[in-house]
Amino acid sequence: MNNTQAFISENKERFLEELLDLLRIPSVSADPSFASDVNKTADEVAKRLTEAGADNVEICQTDGYPIVYADKIIDASLPTILVYGHYDVQPADPIGLWDSPAFEPVVKTTDIHPDGAIFARGACDDKGQMFMHVKAFESMMKADELPCNVKFMIEGEEEVGSMNLGIFVKNNHEKLKADVILVSDTGMLANDVPSITTGLRGLSYVEVEVTGPNRDLHSGLYGGCVANPINALAKMVASLHDENNHITIPGFYDKVVDLSDEERAEMAKAPFSKEAYCTALNIEDVMGEAGYSTPERGSIRPTLDVNGIWGGYIGEGAKTVIASKAYAKISMRLVPDQDPEEITNLFLNHFKSIAPTGTTVKVTPHHGGEPAVTPIDSLSYKAASMAYEKTFGTKPIPVRGGGSIPIVAMFEKELGLKSILMGFGLDSDAIHSPNEHFGLFNYYKGIETIPYFYSYFSTLLK
Ligand code: BES
Ligand code: MN
Ligand code: MN
Repeated sequence: MNNTQAFISENKERFLEELLDLLRIPSVSADPSFASDVNKTADEVAKRLTEAGADNVEICQTDGYPIVYADKIIDASLPTILVYGHYDVQPADPIGLWDSPAFEPVVKTTDIHPDGAIFARGACDDKGQMFMHVKAFESMMKADELPCNVKFMIEGEEEVGSMNLGIFVKNNHEKLKADVILVSDTGMLANDVPSITTGLRGLSYVEVEVTGPNRDLHSGLYGGCVANPINALAKMVASLHDENNHITIPGFYDKVVDLSDEERAEMAKAPFSKEAYCTALNIEDVMGEAGYSTPERGSIRPTLDVNGIWGGYIGEGAKTVIASKAYAKISMRLVPDQDPEEITNLFLNHFKSIAPTGTTVKVTPHHGGEPAVTPIDSLSYKAASMAYEKTFGTKPIPVRGGGSIPIVAMFEKELGLKSILMGFGLDSDAIHSPNEHFGLFNYYKGIETIPYFYSYFSTLLK
């Protein structure tokens, strides 16, 4: 891998410039007004894969945004790595909170990233991390050191539920045949504490609508006499957690797999400073389910959170009105073996049952996804661990993640393949938030580490 590493160090500046170009295209999958940019991003990814030396570069059309496929099969008897990533990004809203425009990337230093970080929507999630794979592949190709076969599958709908990728995977078992799926769409603990994500939470996401009277009413004439849907919604939402912050939906925890004391003790070895955590978020103290630590609450335990709530008058000044309707968007993060559909149904029945007299409730489910765990005794974990140790000089820690990548469970079901989650972002990189960024250290470390994974994995699998 020496020529590969030399190629990387000689091309760092170009690798950065190319990523910045990719970040300038606003590939927001959730907002149809960006459709042409999302498609343009797929073209750009395909172009870069071609330049890197991939064969069979295809822009596979779907009912939504295209999936970019490419491969390099050097010898059918060698192992095959399937790289998954996404080129779509979250909306930049609220744009007023960005220090610089979301799609005009700039490099600035921060306390955590003294070598500089790229500020732009998608810098970390996932354009920056996806592009590390394109550049690592290019480097192995140019150095003539690609040790195995590789396939790329880069989608444009991850942030909106990967509906069409699910169909693509179902229909293309042969095309996607591989020995492992390699994903960089997660994080690690710190730049001097590398870690490998060994689990993702599932997701159940619902929108609720509470209706009271058939029209908006004068709050003086009718206030106190009819159910106010906003008051009702606030009460209903508040009742979803008890005084110990356990979720009150009957049956919600029935299928949760509890970790053994040994597993929890092992988890507790990962460094975590509550003080630093609180300082970074400017909060007095943490909050969450009784009996669990903050890292546990954020990974091995299920949660329920309101993501948005609205209704009534929110304009300038005061308008005295009782709204007819109130709304909320609610996410539930799930852990093995909770089933998203089952949880959505439990929520739906419970939420309807607690609606006060004089209100009706409508629950609309959005996209969800199943949780996933990946083993730490696999060859791919071993290879990844060795790769991190090689480039970071310290052995990575296995860590269960809190976010969701629903397609990981789907890969396992459909292709019978486990994923290895080699993420290089940090929790503080503000993904999905204003001022998202990705450290240059992290970007380059990723590009350097990936080729070692290829090489160790190929050797171990022989
Ligand atoms: N890359 C994230 C998921 C992630 C981030 C996992 C950090 C672990 C650590 C992904 O793009 C994402 O945002 N997923 C969504 C779910 C999806 C169905 C919209 C999420 O977790 O909210
Ligand atoms: Mn992502
Ligand atoms: Mn995301």
